[in-house]
Amino acid sequence: MLSQKTIDIVKSTAPILETNGKDITTYFYKTLFEAHPELLHIFNHANQSQGRQQTALANAVYAAAKYIDQLEVILPAVKQISHKHRSLAIKAEHYPIVGEYLLKAIKEVLGDAATEDIIHAWGEAYGVIAQVFIDVEKEMYKEAAEKKGGWEDFKEFIIEKKVVESSLITSFYLKAADGMPVPDYLPGQYITVRVSIPGEEYLFNRQYSLSQAPGSGYFRISVKREADHVPNGKVSTFFHDHLNAGDMIEVSAPAGEFFLEKGSQPVALISGGVGITPMMAMLGSIAKNEPNRKTVFIHAARNKAVHAFREESSSLVEKLQDGRIYIAYEEKKDESEVCDITGYISKEFLQEVVDKGSVCYVCGPVPFMRAIVSHLTTLGFSENNIKYKFFGPAMAFL
Ligand code: HEM
Repeated sequence: MLSQKTIDIVKSTAPILETNGKDITTYFYKTLFEAHPELLHIFNHANQSQGRQQTALANAVYAAAKYIDQLEVILPAVKQISHKHRSLAIKAEHYPIVGEYLLKAIKEVLGDAATEDIIHAWGEAYGVIAQVFIDVEKEMYKEAAEKKGGWEDFKEFIIEKKVVESSLITSFYLKAADGMPVPDYLPGQYITVRVSIPGEEYLFNRQYSLSQAPGSGYFRISVKREADHVPNGKVSTFFHDHLNAGDMIEVSAPAGEFFLEKGSQPVALISGGVGITPMMAMLGSIAKNEPNRKTVFIHAARNKAVHAFREESSSLVEKLQDGRIYIAYEEKKDESEVCDITGYISKEFLQEVVDKGSVCYVCGPVPFMRAIVSHLTTLGFSENNIKYKFFGPAMAFL
């Protein structure tokens, strides 16, 4: 239990954290990695260099501090982050290390303003916040390990086959090296893959959505080729150019809270670019388990060449009793590029094709998601009926 004095200090100094949040976490990461370079095997170096992770952690600590006397408010947000932590094999013993360097950073950035009382209060508060994460994650590890075919951290998988889906996206079919079946997962969930790239000092971890309905006997991920020079390009280039059938990678158990919920409500699956990957798992799952459920599948791609799963998505929709599919191409080179919309998906189009009572799942690049979520909100869809996911660290905690 935190004392009232600690709670008061933490709450009253939390706004200072907000103002200095980025400086604190930037300093924190620098000193943390200097002292514990082994943690660079876990963190995403690309997010680090873009400063995205710094912002995510700063926001999280600030938000948690605001609710230090009613931590149940932040539990839903903790769960989302804990899925990511669990999929990266972050353990209870990592928390004191992070706490130590976070406190040192607060002290450094606040300078004389960081009195002993303030540092002591934040130390205590961090301990309480960390315990919430540790408890949630402990349950998640247990659940992952207890599933049929499940395991706790990382496990070796063999690439069984590699299939080109478009000029940019290639699928990798993965089987457990120990011959165990893959565990059941929820359509929309992701796995973390861990690879060692020749010439690179540290391991790389990346999250990829599973792009096929559960029950196929393997995991399928579909990787978009990013330009080699962009921070996220190293892993994707490695997958595309160097990993082939027979190669081994490490994989953690499926995670994530963006998944299709079973029910009688009509469903709209709306994706842009590589955001199609979790939608393929959802569509496959509807075709398999709920073929009577009214479903509309809407996908936006830049053009036909980069449009993945064209045949597979159409044939899944054909299995539905009341399914429709619409394709939007941003640009059309010639008439062979058959699509339903040329240009962007408009509000009017969504109004026409998405049933009012639908639950809408949206995934794609941030500008795409902003536009679609804003259209759906304007059309009167409630927050509960719009579920979305973008790739990259969550920027807002609450
Ligand atoms: C991701 C918060 C402790 C390692 C994140 C994210 C947040 C966050 C908000 C972004 C989630 C997302 O991607 O959607 C926190 C808080 C912590 C904490 C509030 C303490 C109470 C730790 C610890 C470690 C860790 C102890 C391990 C040493 C990571 C990693 C990621 C992450 C590796 C993924 C980001 C990336 O790959 O760059 N955390 N975290 N976190 N966290 Fe934590």
